[in-house]
Amino acid sequence: MTDFAADRLLLFGATGDLARRKLLPSLCALCADGLLPENLAIIGTARSEIDDAGFREMARAALEEFLPAQRRGGMATFLNRLSYQQLDASTIDGFSALAEKVRQVGGPDDQNGGLAIFLSTAPSLFGPTIAGLEHAGLTGERVRMCLEKPLGTDLETSAEINDAVAAAFSEDRIFRIDHYLGKETVQNLLALRFANILFEPIWNSNVIDHVQITVAETVGLEGRVTFYDDAGALRDMVQNHMLQLLALVAMEPPTSFDATAVRDEKVKVLRALRPALATETVTGQYRAGAVDGQAVPGYDEELGKASTTETFTAIKAHVDNWRWKGVPFYLRTGKRLPERVTEILVQFRAVPHSIFAGAGGGPGTGLQPNSLLIGIQPDEDITLSLMAKVPGLDEDGVRLREVPLQIKMPDAFVGQHRRIAYERLLLDLIKGDQTLFVRRDEVEAQWEWVDAIRAEWEANGVTPKTYASGNWGPSAAIALTERDGVSWHE
Ligand code: BG6
Repeated sequence: MTDFAADRLLLFGATGDLARRKLLPSLCALCADGLLPENLAIIGTARSEIDDAGFREMARAALEEFLPAQRRGGMATFLNRLSYQQLDASTIDGFSALAEKVRQVGGPDDQNGGLAIFLSTAPSLFGPTIAGLEHAGLTGERVRMCLEKPLGTDLETSAEINDAVAAAFSEDRIFRIDHYLGKETVQNLLALRFANILFEPIWNSNVIDHVQITVAETVGLEGRVTFYDDAGALRDMVQNHMLQLLALVAMEPPTSFDATAVRDEKVKVLRALRPALATETVTGQYRAGAVDGQAVPGYDEELGKASTTETFTAIKAHVDNWRWKGVPFYLRTGKRLPERVTEILVQFRAVPHSIFAGAGGGPGTGLQPNSLLIGIQPDEDITLSLMAKVPGLDEDGVRLREVPLQIKMPDAFVGQHRRIAYERLLLDLIKGDQTLFVRRDEVEAQWEWVDAIRAEWEANGVTPKTYASGNWGPSAAIALTERDGVSWHE
């Protein structure tokens, strides 16, 4: 942890979609709760030719649209913290004026404060922006750099970006966002695993049969035509969010909840991922159909042309280490699926010997292996399925039924805000805590695994199969698990 709290936050891409939907609302909510450093000034910069007042107006409209009214308490105070400097980041010219603006808002204790920079711009602007910041003297020891995805499109381009950033910032000042790590329920995975003694002894291939991770969305392209068609589900969702979820489920216990210890353990898992074969993957692309009772167009129609980009992928992954030998991790993500749900299912093995099987019921006893379902969103429930005896006199033998032991997190923590993931991440950036940010070696291990899958697809001529919107991907996704005798949790 670098030991200063930033007193200035510089947002690149300040008029963009992420700023409007997430960053400004998160900062305003933190401000309303009195959680931002008292003197924190926020400087927005982008190409748009607006002034301070124009930026505040834009911010106000964004807050009214994207932040619930009850969390907008201190909106006027928050808007007062904002200022703006127009900049074309592709050329060096405007950076001196930007640096001047940053200094102006710095206040009298400039020497004790620090600057946090949040880069949410097109990746093509990363290089020129870093060069401009260096030129203007905005890369010193008391400056942190936060990067938003996409960080490249493969290992090579990601390394180029990382090299460019590393030339100006040491790794302990680089904060790579994976917004899933800001989600309370994702952080709770660590609490569930490492604050309870129950799970650790059974968290391995002796007791766990397989793990399923599903990140399903109902939305389609959402206007992100160029970006998405160049990315696809594998790079957009698996490379980052899903592999981070997998790493949190599969990692060894870190020695402490500290940035180095946690990230050391995650990267070991990511490096232990076995390259997946084409036959262990399925890709799909949505066609017209109905989601939530609404007719929706197909991907090709939204895009306006034919494309081979996958909007769905399912992968059977393996973590090659002692703990996970022989335990498949089935990953599945897609757009235009029947519901929005992110969940992790840990499926335990069957009991080694059923004492009930002979008691008249045989296979009809209802005995099922246990499972643990961890809901990430929208439902934040943890459900352990246990077997119980169906009440009765058992004249035909004992009958068993699965019953859920369920924790509904919002009920367990009534009165606590459900915060936007970026609230936590922005606060950690300002304070300088890297625990929930992704280190370079993690990003690169993620890309290595994803690049190998893409190479497999290319070598085997894999193109996405179609699926009607509102379905769980192409039927091959079902076959992927069924041939192992496993059904997706739905
Ligand atoms: C983003 C992807 O990283 O995550 C989007 O680029 C996706 O395609 C989004 O919709 C999902 O985030 P969340 O928090 O809504 O699950």
